[in-house]
Amino acid sequence: MWEKPIGIFDSGLGGLTALKEISRIMPNEDIVYLGDTGRAPYGDKDDSTLKLYAKQDLSFLESQNVKIILAACGTLSSLADFSELQINVRLVGVVESACDSAVKVTKNGKIGIIGTSSTINSGTYKKKICSLMPNAVVYQKACPMFVPLIESGNIDCFNSKLMKYAKDYLSVFKELNTDTIILGCTHYPLIETVIRKVVGSNVNLINSGEKAAELVFKLLKSENKLSSKKSSGKIKFFISGEKEKFLKVANSFLENDLKKDIETVNICKWGSL
Ligand code: DGL
Repeated sequence: MWEKPIGIFDSGLGGLTALKEISRIMPNEDIVYLGDTGRAPYGDKDDSTLKLYAKQDLSFLESQNVKIILAACGTLSSLADFSELQINVRLVGVVESACDSAVKVTKNGKIGIIGTSSTINSGTYKKKICSLMPNAVVYQKACPMFVPLIESGNIDCFNSKLMKYAKDYLSVFKELNTDTIILGCTHYPLIETVIRKVVGSNVNLINSGEKAAELVFKLLKSENKLSSKKSSGKIKFFISGEKEKFLKVANSFLENDLKKDIETVNICKWGSL
């Protein structure tokens, strides 16, 4: 029964940061990955649209007979009513584990949160940090241009547009002497070198996808639901947009050729609210 796959979804490439960690720590698990690339970015959409997208993404993954679903998307994980969507599979988001980790590593209690506009407006990460560490000084900053740039393949320090936005969004953290920044959008680790260049080498950058992957491992282990297979797990990708665009960044990030494992899905068909 526990030979079922792990389901992961995001608006696009971001969830690969969680997938990479899941396949590193649980190499024999099968994974089904859904990237809703046709409708990305999610971060500028209103709550009711996001709720519909979440419902469709979850329904699709449920149909894949997964044993657990990781919502590897800071935007959907931050939605207040996300937990109310009725599904019959265990669902894990990225907020809690990232916040747990941030309060553990900060030395001066100055914690930054970066994410999409929707994530930052929800205040979900901030509320969680303040509940764990009431004296924390939390500064949040939305970085709306990062996801569209990443989805179009702009991910390195030589990209002047990306560097300009990174300086605009992130210079403030140096001025505030922030020692820990939560990458509250799972896309952001794909541009970690760019972020690092602006905030400096001493800041702790919390990779929310990676932390959530560790949580998935802990949950499956404690519930005896890890796969007992000895062979390497299979990974199947479903996306709702252009294959070539996704493959360009995904292949280089995962250091693999995913062409034969990828299918297109008409995600809009997967239910309504
Ligand atoms: N990677 C997602 C997140 O963590 C989605 C970003 C977007 O599509 O705007 O927020």
